[in-house]
Amino acid sequence: MDAYPLYFDYAATTPVDDVVIEAMLGCLGRQGVFGNPASRGHAFGNDAQQAVDSARQQVAALVGAQPAQLVWTSGATESNNLALLGVARRRGRGHLITSCLEHRAVLDTAAQLEAEGFAVTYLAPNAAGLITPDAVAEAWQEDTCLVSLMLVNNELGTLTDIDAIGRLVRARGALFHVDAAQATGKVAIDLTGLEVDLMSFSAHKTYGPKGIGALYVGPRAEGALQAQIHGGGHERGLRSGTLATHQIVGMGTAFALAGQAMTRENERLGQLRERFLAGVQTLNGMQLNGCARQRIPHTLNLTFATPLDTVALQRQLAFSTTSACSSAKAAPSHVLLGLGLTPEQAARSYRFSLGRYTTAADVDRAVTLIHQHAAQPAPFWA
Ligand SMILES: Cc1ncc(COP(=O)(O)O)c(C=O)c1O
Repeated sequence: MDAYPLYFDYAATTPVDDVVIEAMLGCLGRQGVFGNPASRGHAFGNDAQQAVDSARQQVAALVGAQPAQLVWTSGATESNNLALLGVARRRGRGHLITSCLEHRAVLDTAAQLEAEGFAVTYLAPNAAGLITPDAVAEAWQEDTCLVSLMLVNNELGTLTDIDAIGRLVRARGALFHVDAAQATGKVAIDLTGLEVDLMSFSAHKTYGPKGIGALYVGPRAEGALQAQIHGGGHERGLRSGTLATHQIVGMGTAFALAGQAMTRENERLGQLRERFLAGVQTLNGMQLNGCARQRIPHTLNLTFATPLDTVALQRQLAFSTTSACSSAKAAPSHVLLGLGLTPEQAARSYRFSLGRYTTAADVDRAVTLIHQHAAQPAPFWA
């Protein structure tokens, strides 16, 4: 088999950390914690319940939540669905605010709510590519019941000021949901000091397994959510279904590791980002998409003057021509269009995302490959 390409697509997903794999393996077989966490009264069930409880504490610790405020889900897509559908359907009617830069898991859910008769405003970013408190205030209506915005944009790596927006939303009496799928282990999150009522998490963006996530449900959102999956009343009735002990333990372990590694990793990736940018900056007309200041170091979205030969380049370098979740659709990225790029500019824009296992040598190799596959603009005499 051909050697795999260099991996520069950590924002799409991350490999599961070896320590996490080890912890998960301990929850699968006959010798491990394989019981059903809901089976009370025997050791198999009790041990599984204990493993779930300790993972809940690990996830809570990374984001400053109480363990009991977390609901396990199958990932951030489901967490976003539970937050938006849960709040809106419990209320029955009302107005929601979100933005045109959100992930499809929010946009498609908001569209579903529109089909059910709810009103939704999709905010546009300011000139710097950010959603501002002013934009939220301007869109406010008397019956606004929920604001949903992401903390870290999956295509751009830019950060939303959820602190300021949360204060505004709280002062006006609505609930604030934040999609933090791309933020855990990259941005310090302390829910004790944030005016956020609901927050979505995913394990597989943070070196944990796919198919597991959580929704934080803060005190003001207690009782404001309608369950979207029924049967058995697990997770305080908010999300029924047998808990996947191995996945949950994987997420807990991954989040604990992320907490330990965050400062070191951010510093190291900040340096690699500079190295990468310095290397590709010399390409004619290269432009960084999204605010250059308010961002994480891991994710870069770049527009080049001419398209890269992506088919050839992807054989040696794995990166994203749009976000992984929308690349099944061949349309230009809604996020880049939302920033004001033309479809033609969006088509020559690419996301490169760095992570835990990226080295300086990888960055240098990636830069060389990009130079090799960048079509040079035709000389003026051609
Ligand atoms: C910002 C954001 N929200 C939600 C999701 C969906 O998460 P999951 O794959 O856990 O369903 C993703 C994944 O790409 C994401 O980047």
